[in-house]
Amino acid sequence: MKTRSKAVTKAVFPVAGLGTRFLPATKASPKEMMPIVDKPLIQYAVEEAAAAGITDMVFVTGRTKRAIEDHFDKAYELETELALKRKSEMLEFVQNLLPRNINCVYIRQAEALGLGHAVLCAKPVIGDEPFAVLLADDLLDGDPPVMKQMTDIYEAHGCSVLGALDVPREETASYGIVKGRAVAERLEKVEAIVEKPKPDAAPSTQAVVGRYILTPRIFRHLESVKPGSGGEIQLTDGIASLLGEEQVLAYRYIGKRFDCGSKLGYLEATVDFGRRHPEVGVAFSNYLKTLDQA
Ligand code: G1P
Repeated sequence: MKTRSKAVTKAVFPVAGLGTRFLPATKASPKEMMPIVDKPLIQYAVEEAAAAGITDMVFVTGRTKRAIEDHFDKAYELETELALKRKSEMLEFVQNLLPRNINCVYIRQAEALGLGHAVLCAKPVIGDEPFAVLLADDLLDGDPPVMKQMTDIYEAHGCSVLGALDVPREETASYGIVKGRAVAERLEKVEAIVEKPKPDAAPSTQAVVGRYILTPRIFRHLESVKPGSGGEIQLTDGIASLLGEEQVLAYRYIGKRFDCGSKLGYLEATVDFGRRHPEVGVAFSNYLKTLDQA
């Protein structure tokens, strides 16, 4: 009989990055707090994890990231003020930002030594369990939410799963690229993975986007990988090393990706989510139509 895989209940959000592509907006506030319409990027990622049944949210933070902790914390002054002004709808909104069963844990990554290093910082909280990693600047719009699609794959196969997407060959140097062998629809067994290869050296055009489910074995490998692309400890290199002892799958998720780490992707997400927003969607769509006519 097949033993059941342990459920994924913990997610790591590496949020210590500097966000230099959005300066000066990110000089004093985290890029993960930039809103798409009225919700910060990090909240979309946390909601995606919660929709997959994940209850422990582990944020690997750094200096200037206090706003993220405050966002998910109780806001006494704001709540008192809203209660006094009888703004009950807003108050409920602020108080119920996260479902009650969610725990938030914050770990400081003192030095920005890379994504692999950030994930390794979460080891004391993760322990010996499978866990998810979500990069908030990859905003994924899927139904069911992409992390839920991935936990389903994890439960069926019991091994690490990477969120994958086909990209134009000229963009391979921006991603971890996987070479795989198809095992089912949308699913490949990873044979190799390299961080940010130049287009002519890329083994395929299948990119890893910011969604991972990893077995705890990854920590062993992250502890021993040497600095790679950009002189940083890369998660991709840890996964490449993990491949030597465990199966890893790449899953082409169903959904749309917005690269909110880039200005263009951020603007596209704003337009897309803005048009569908329950409060302003219709008016905003009408406004966009007037632009077409101009
Ligand atoms: C990181 C990872 C890369 C992955 C990408 C997805 O790169 O290192 O493997 O493909 O996220 O967005 P970054 O964009 O942080 O440079």
